[in-house]
Amino acid sequence: MNILVIGGGGREHALVWKLAQSPQVEHVWCAPGSDGIAQQAECLPVSLTDTAAVAGLAARLKPDLTVVGPEQPLVLGLADEFASRGLRIVGPKQAAARLEGSKIFAKQFLERQTIPTAKIYGIYDSAAEAHAAVEGLAPPFVIKADGPCAGKGVLVANSRDEAQTFLSRVMDDREFGEAGSQVLLEESLTGKELSFIVLADGEHILPLALARDHKRVFDGDEGPNTGGMGAFSVDGIIPKALESLILEKVVRPTLDGMAREGSPYVGFLYCGLMLTPNGPKVLEYNCRMGDPECQAIVARMDFDFADALGAAAEGKLNRITPRWNPAASVCVVLTSGGYPGHYATGESISGVAEAEAGGDVIVFHAGTRLKDGSYVTAGGRVLGVTAAGPDLGSAAARAYTAAGRIHFDGMHYRKDIGVQY
Ligand code: AMP
Ligand code: GLY
Repeated sequence: MNILVIGGGGREHALVWKLAQSPQVEHVWCAPGSDGIAQQAECLPVSLTDTAAVAGLAARLKPDLTVVGPEQPLVLGLADEFASRGLRIVGPKQAAARLEGSKIFAKQFLERQTIPTAKIYGIYDSAAEAHAAVEGLAPPFVIKADGPCAGKGVLVANSRDEAQTFLSRVMDDREFGEAGSQVLLEESLTGKELSFIVLADGEHILPLALARDHKRVFDGDEGPNTGGMGAFSVDGIIPKALESLILEKVVRPTLDGMAREGSPYVGFLYCGLMLTPNGPKVLEYNCRMGDPECQAIVARMDFDFADALGAAAEGKLNRITPRWNPAASVCVVLTSGGYPGHYATGESISGVAEAEAGGDVIVFHAGTRLKDGSYVTAGGRVLGVTAAGPDLGSAAARAYTAAGRIHFDGMHYRKDIGVQY
């Protein structure tokens, strides 16, 4: 098999790394990829927002299969473009990707299918009405911009003032453009969050290993939200019975509902859940793997990933038996100082080879580039130091020992990934 991976971050590096290990895989391309990903794949430049260009590239390369990392091309209709050219792809079509692309579509779908979720207070396309509605709500409550806002479109409001300020930015100032033309107000839920990610072929479901990410920038879940400071995966994050309940009450009805509504879902489906005292409830859907959850998940994947993706594209996922070994994994994200705010780039990175020297650690590149033959920082999230082990403690110890060997000016990372859950 020759496989094309779309994207260029830490998640895509992890996908490429795992696919390259498959005995069936001859060649892996990654578009646009990165200097780090080029260690395992042939990288080709392309704009992720230009779906015709991406499909054109695939038409030229003729991969047996394409797998998409980020949501944006899917929300823009990349899978439809591929289908119209007869190219095989793992990723939902535009209508199915609305589960992530429109929070209002997702909410209304959840209600139609009676899948547990936060109670909705209202949907507004007028700023004045939204401002007025906020005055009638008792905090805490949640405001969500309808469209994709790079992770910045949700506020759990603890005061009406805070809510009004956020609403002004979203609706009056249109800080996120069209994504803020409608907002959703909903109930604030409490509990622990869980990323429940499955691979789907439109009908069958292959649940991936359970993983949890750490979104806040500092230890103990302090400080602002980020794209993800690290993730861990281990069986038993939740009891087996709860896992079955989530499959039965959330995942199965989601896939059945999408199929019934004429948009069968093919690809990775990420259910962002709140485990509330009244059971699991959906906070959001993403139409992709999580980043850095993906890095932790592939580190435990003990089956042929390329085979599974091929089966997903063919609607034959029921023939794949997943195996997860070792039992635990940890991915620690090394970030530039100041992230998620302003940060410097171009800092020299040292110690990556030393970190990987033992053979049981893999360093995925997220925001790096080569300068005069050595890596420098090129983003907020720079590297994902990933290790597996027989238990969470040993996986974390391996990842942290390796992280300690890496250096760049301003480097920051959380010291508690996988330590508490
Ligand atoms: P979303 O993009 O919808 O996942 O929202 C991002 C984050 O906002 C989630 O991971 C939660 O931490 C938080 N969040 C979203 N919806 C709610 C809710 N209804 N109650 C509490 N927290 C929420
Ligand atoms: N790590 C969270 C996400 O990928 O959305």
